[in-house]
Amino acid sequence: MSDSEFDDAIAILGGTGDQGLGLALRFAKAGRPVVIGSRKLDRATAAEAEVKRAVPDGNVTGLDNADATRRAKIVILSVPFEHTAATVKSIRDALVPGQIVVSMGVPLASSVGGAAAHMVGIWQGSCAELVASLLPAEIGVVSAFQNVSAHRLRELDQPVECDVVVSGAKPEREVVMGLCEWVPGLRAVDGGPLGNARIVESITALLIGMNIRYRVSEGIGVRFTGLPTPTETKPTSR
Ligand SMILES: NC(=O)c1ccc[n+]([C@@H]2O[C@H](COP(=O)([O-])OP(=O)(O)OC[C@H]3O[C@@H](n4cnc5c(N)ncnc54)[C@H](OP(=O)(O)O)[C@@H]3O)[C@@H](O)[C@H]2O)c1
Repeated sequence: MSDSEFDDAIAILGGTGDQGLGLALRFAKAGRPVVIGSRKLDRATAAEAEVKRAVPDGNVTGLDNADATRRAKIVILSVPFEHTAATVKSIRDALVPGQIVVSMGVPLASSVGGAAAHMVGIWQGSCAELVASLLPAEIGVVSAFQNVSAHRLRELDQPVECDVVVSGAKPEREVVMGLCEWVPGLRAVDGGPLGNARIVESITALLIGMNIRYRVSEGIGVRFTGLPTPTETKPTSR
């Protein structure tokens, strides 16, 4: 399938897990076609059934990760950081120029036996830049959604109330910023180039520590103040 043939479906690889299923529920409720990817087809179809139970008129399909990748222009990676590289390599041949891969992973130290409120260093600088290093330049990589709690996403009757800092090259970044408008309470914030992903990813580790200290199991989110409304925003070149 060429870039121009994609409809407005969103693929979520690892969409069987907490965060991916939360996004699948939200996008399905908003009326966007959703494709849930998994390493195992039966897990994908079970997740499809779960979304359909919550959103009976939702347009959702469960497929294996490679077939899910072939079905959507936007492909969200929703696997734990330590499985990111293997997952990207497993779908690399299914991608075509023009597709956008969204990195949501956070290099938490729990991936190497440490604390979830700590980070590990990544040679490339961030999980998102690791993803970009594994893909050809024709595939846009954008970082987003790291600071959004899975629990909040899955409370479908409540707005999520969180800002989403989106980083990457400008055209692809703007496409992913547009995704946030489909979820009540999410606000996209222009996070500039992909190199800023390392800052955004580290905020998640901070939030995990805050969730523990403040005993907020539902997850604390972030809001930036002083941002102009979209009509006041001046265009930037990068
Ligand atoms: N949970 C949150 O509140 C939260 C918040 C912000 C960001 N995130 C980010 O979102 C991503 C997903 O988080 P999550 O909590 O949803 O993770 P998760 O539930 O632990 O796992 C998500 C999915 O990853 C796949 N997976 C597991 N082991 C794998 C392996 N060895 N190789 C390849 N895939 C594997 C599984 O899908 P299949 O078995 O179906 O293939 C699983 O359902 C992470 O990068 C996390 O940092 C999470």
